[in-house]
Amino acid sequence: MTHRILILGGTTEARQLAGKLARRQDFSITLSLAGRTESPVAQGVPVRVGGFGGADGLAAYLRQEKVDLLIDATHPYAAQISANAAEAAKQSGVPILALRRPGWEPVAGDRWTLVDNVAEAASALGAAPRRVFLAIGRQEAGAFEAAPQHCYLIRSVDPIEPQLAVPDALYLLARGPFPEADERALLEKYGIDAVVSKNSGGEATYGKIAAARALGIEVIMIRRPPLPDVPSAETVDALAAMVDHLFAPVAERGV
Ligand SMILES: NC(=O)c1ccc[n+]([C@@H]2O[C@H](COP(=O)([O-])OP(=O)(O)OC[C@H]3O[C@@H](n4cnc5c(N)ncnc54)[C@H](OP(=O)(O)O)[C@@H]3O)[C@@H](O)[C@H]2O)c1
Repeated sequence: MTHRILILGGTTEARQLAGKLARRQDFSITLSLAGRTESPVAQGVPVRVGGFGGADGLAAYLRQEKVDLLIDATHPYAAQISANAAEAAKQSGVPILALRRPGWEPVAGDRWTLVDNVAEAASALGAAPRRVFLAIGRQEAGAFEAAPQHCYLIRSVDPIEPQLAVPDALYLLARGPFPEADERALLEKYGIDAVVSKNSGGEATYGKIAAARALGIEVIMIRRPPLPDVPSAETVDALAAMVDHLFAPVAERGV
């Protein structure tokens, strides 16, 4: 019997999880991407692209495609799709699991200023002009037009178009992982005195946080949005084990 699994992705872990689960002959995996990135990296499993049309649309998709398990492996700041996933699972009766990468915790030497969203981050930079490294992705960079007095170094995977309506901004296109030594060199080269970051968690983008600490630079850290409470695991391996358990024959589950 084939178990059909839909993975909501857009993250490295989602791709890794899909690859791992796809090795099972009895699993049929589809990975779903929002379609934001112009040239997403190859995912290695069948992919579908684009929104579903809210929670109702996703619930309809789950029924139509006879999905047996929904896995929310989206980015921790993609709060809308996570809320939709939980609601669609409830509506359709399809079980849901979430891969929730833990956030970073501040350690000695970190100078974090915690804010709730990008608008607060822009005002937390203060009135005096600063040299700011913006590494929050392209979708929300526009919020910093509210603080045009600063000089911005803005890094994203895809170009930010139109560019920000601020007089002094430099754009870098790059895809992680970003090692600490490279991040430190970047912060020094551009004389950065504030870093704006999401608390993404994981290794791939931690380099800028460690580099800021080493250089004594303030980090304006945007807190994670609230996410729905569904059964979850913190790592790809732990989530894969939950999936195995869910589809194990009853005798093997020891119930
Ligand atoms: N936010 C970030 O910082 C960030 C960082 C790295 C990667 N990503 C990835 O980029 C994607 C978009 O992020 P976002 O913050 O714009 O999401 P979002 O605000 O939570 O979602 C907005 C809408 O985009 C569609 N969508 C989002 N993820 C989808 C997916 N995996 N498959 C199909 N449709 C999806 C849904 O449209 P419908 O309502 O029409 O279904 C959703 O309502 C996510 O897949 C996320 O994993 C986000």
